[in-house]
Amino acid sequence: MSDAITFAHRYQSVLVPVIFEPWARELMRRADPRPGEHILDLACGTGAVTREVARRAHSLGRLTAVDHSAEMLGVAQSLADEAGLDVEWVEADAAALPFADNRFDLALCQQALQFFPDKPGALRELWRVLRPEGRAVFCVQRELAVNPMLKAQADALETHVGAEAAAAVAAICSLPDGAALKDLFEGAGFRDIKVESVTLDLQHPDAAAFAAGAMGGMHTGDKLAGLADRAIDRAVKAFLAGLGDCLDGRSLRFPHVANVIVAMR
Ligand SMILES: C[S@@+](CC[C@H](N)C(=O)[O-])C[C@H]1O[C@@H](n2cnc3c(N)ncnc32)[C@H](O)[C@@H]1O
Repeated sequence: MSDAITFAHRYQSVLVPVIFEPWARELMRRADPRPGEHILDLACGTGAVTREVARRAHSLGRLTAVDHSAEMLGVAQSLADEAGLDVEWVEADAAALPFADNRFDLALCQQALQFFPDKPGALRELWRVLRPEGRAVFCVQRELAVNPMLKAQADALETHVGAEAAAAVAAICSLPDGAALKDLFEGAGFRDIKVESVTLDLQHPDAAAFAAGAMGGMHTGDKLAGLADRAIDRAVKAFLAGLGDCLDGRSLRFPHVANVIVAMR
């Protein structure tokens, strides 16, 4: 098993149930899919949104999921196959989608726009492949200052691993500004753009297990791989200690704040 596959599995087993599945339910509630719609999950990762769409709306229409990582797609596809879900999986960059114009009715994109190197290009591509009147529903993490779990993790990494590892967490929060998001969507041709800051109250029954798992699943696992066990232990302990008010005895409860963007083609 390669490191990249290990990362995708850790992401799926630790982070998806706690963070990405609750957000997928929130996005679906706002997207409100209609019968017969062709839905795109852009930058699907291990398929949290894809599975939520399939569970709630698959019988209504067709479903396509795209990611540029073969490893993330591999985990997504095997979970969907196990569940008997019918999904078209496509490995592609968001800025070069291999689809005809006007193909999709609805596109969902969860916690990925901040990582696209060519954000205007990716949104122009999405505008092209959506049909007129098609909808885009995105969520993008807000800043570390309002996301105490990620802040605790970034601080622990900065102190015990180094600036590069801390920057990997900060990158998750690198597109926090609602006005800048609105400008990006407007620049790509979208209209009726609504940006709303949304807070989900997320939890895990075992904070220590989450802290250890999250260190290996948030683009930080590779930064920890070269460290001695004791250094990893120190970083995980510092992460846990930094969680402060988010700790309730053994368990963890934290606000997770993101901008949700709903826009029309
Ligand atoms: C934090 S994960 C979110 C995955 C998924 N949407 C979820 O909710 O679990 C970000 C995803 O964006 C994908 N990604 C990053 N840049 C991309 C690009 N330029 N084109 C396509 N996918 C990209 C990554 O491979 C990764 O799967």
